[in-house]
Amino acid sequence: MRALVVSQLAGGLSGVDLAELPDPERKVGEVLVRIHAASLNFPDLLMTQGKYQFKPEVPFVSGMELSGEVLEAEPNSGFTPGDHVIGGNKTGAFAEMASIPDRGLSKLPKGLSFVEGAAMGAAYTTAYTGLIELCGLQKGQWVLVHGASGGVGLAAVDLAKAMGAKVIAASGVETKLARIDALYRPDANILAEGRFREQVKEITGGALCDIVFDPVGGDIFDESTRCVAFGGKLVVVGFTSGRIAEVATNIPLIKGFSIVGLRAGEYARRFPERGKTISQAISKLAEAGRITPAIDRILPLSGWREGFEAMANRQLVGKVIFETNK
Ligand SMILES: NC(=O)c1ccc[n+]([C@@H]2O[C@H](COP(=O)([O-])OP(=O)(O)OC[C@H]3O[C@@H](n4cnc5c(N)ncnc54)[C@H](OP(=O)(O)O)[C@@H]3O)[C@@H](O)[C@H]2O)c1
Repeated sequence: MRALVVSQLAGGLSGVDLAELPDPERKVGEVLVRIHAASLNFPDLLMTQGKYQFKPEVPFVSGMELSGEVLEAEPNSGFTPGDHVIGGNKTGAFAEMASIPDRGLSKLPKGLSFVEGAAMGAAYTTAYTGLIELCGLQKGQWVLVHGASGGVGLAAVDLAKAMGAKVIAASGVETKLARIDALYRPDANILAEGRFREQVKEITGGALCDIVFDPVGGDIFDESTRCVAFGGKLVVVGFTSGRIAEVATNIPLIKGFSIVGLRAGEYARRFPERGKTISQAISKLAEAGRITPAIDRILPLSGWREGFEAMANRQLVGKVIFETNK
């Protein structure tokens, strides 16, 4: 089979290329999947450079998220050949086939294409776990979403709107704001730069935000500590800015807010029943047409470099999908 292999951890993408590999065999406890579509996530980019918290040994097949069709499964796995599935593992998705632990898969929500299914899982699971499971998002609350053009950011905007929250979408790139507006109609958008607390204060009528969802970190996190309402929550999602922020603990004390660490994948592994509930809730919303993933571009696997570079250069509004059988 054809697969995108990381053979050395290098700066840029010099250690990554397509290769022909033997077809995988199904392992015990796993499901063999013919992959139709796979989506690019920021950790895929970090893993090519050994900069993600999970550091697979080289060589490895890149890609953490896929959709496809079951080829082989154990009788008690809950899957049968021909089932359409979404999910993945930390690696292996940018290939024509993969053997995936059955707990990492769920059924493709009805009505979604393979492309939409591949775009949905990780981003919406992250957004759902952060906003709803950990922060108890309520209708009418103010939510500020940073990195709102990204896969996770857009999912958070879409989900928060679907839940009836009032959403401020924040991007560091001004030209992306109109595209985010056109996709999900947030209640306001801001350029996340400088003292954006002033804009947040004005938009919320002085109330500030009940939840701030931050995949960016660095200066954005620092300024966000001034945008959370008393009793609110600031969710640490990631560090796309490249800097892990540090906070003086008197700020959350004086301002009366909580800092919430989010690890959506680990949450589902540690609390499998909660993970299942989250996945079912997302499927239900998708099947009812209340949430729809935003896709920036669909590429054949041979176009992998364009996708990785667009993500690294911050050019995307939505997900990159690789059709792995093209
Ligand atoms: N905690 C969890 O459980 C969990 C799960 C999945 C992903 N994540 C993390 O969430 C983050 C986003 O992942 P993703 O797949 O959504 O990535 P993505 O699609 O590339 O989106 C990331 C967004 O961050 C902003 N950004 C990118 N580079 C930046 C830079 N140098 N400086 C400032 N902002 C920058 C951009 O938004 P703007 O241009 O609009 O500002 C970009 O659209 C990553 O850090 C990832 O590791 C966390």
